[in-house]
Order: sequence, then structure tokens, then C-alpha cells
Amino acid sequence: MTEIISNQIKEQLIAEAQKIQQNSYSPYSNFPVGSAVLTRNGRIVSGVNVENVSYGLTRCAEQNAIGTMVSQGETEIIAVAVSSRNGVTPCGACRQVLLEFALGDIPVWLIATDTGKISQTSLHKLIPDSFNKDLLDAATA
Ligand code: THU
Repeated sequence: MTEIISNQIKEQLIAEAQKIQQNSYSPYSNFPVGSAVLTRNGRIVSGVNVENVSYGLTRCAEQNAIGTMVSQGETEIIAVAVSSRNGVTPCGACRQVLLEFALGDIPVWLIATDTGKISQTSLHKLIPDSFNKDLLDAATA
């Protein structure tokens, strides 16, 4: 991943994830999550976790951000921010969904709103040895 992301854009992405977190619908877990993705075209798109009384229908914040992004006509991401009380990493399903649209090993910023701590990891650290488009293409060529 060679795209340069300015500090200003990084701060905007993080701020958006934190802001949208307030809109989380999470009455069952009481664990609000906000996520924002930065597209290759410089757009920031965000989402929150949306829970359901039928628990298995819950959608994570990252997946809702991605769904909105695709709906807006974008399919390439160059960074992700996830905001929660304690700065959790994306769940396994979200890692795979983010991977689908990531341009390489993109940065992932994790915001812990309880402490204000922001940590950085990367998508390939979170999902190494992944099942991905290249593998499928190679197998079906
Ligand atoms: N959650 C997310 O939104 N993203 C993640 O990556 C981890 C989990 C949500 C799902 C559920 O609403 C709540 O956090 C507790 O699992």
C-alpha cells in the first residue's frame, strides 16, 4: 500500500468513526461501534452496528460502512477507522468484507473512546493468509 494519507485526512477519518458511533443501534450488546472507510477517491463513508432482536441479524459497523460506500458507487478503500469503547479490532467477518475492497495492506486505526487511545494496525496483519480474489482466480482460470 503506497498511497500517502495526510495527517489531516487521517484525523478526519478517525473523527468520523467516532462521531457516527453515537448513532449505533446496539440495545442488546450495549456496545456501540462506529466505522469509517476512506475511498481511493478521497471520500469518507461511515457506518454503525445495527442490532436486531433476532441477534443473528446484527450487522457490524464496518459492513454497514462498506454497504453504504458501494451504494454510493465506490469499491476501493485505502484506510479504515473503527471506534468503540475499548478500541476493538474488526471481527473476522468484517476483516473479510474489508479485504474485498482494500487496495493492498491498508492501515486500520482503532479508537478507544474510553481512554482516547488510537492504535494502528493493518488489514493484512488482521487477516493474514486470506482467501482472496487472486486465489479464486488462480483456481478457476
Ligand atoms: N461489532 C461491530 O460493529 N464491529 C466489529 O468488528 C465487532 C463487533 C458489533 C456487533 C454487535 O452489535 C456488537 O459489536 C457486539 O458484538
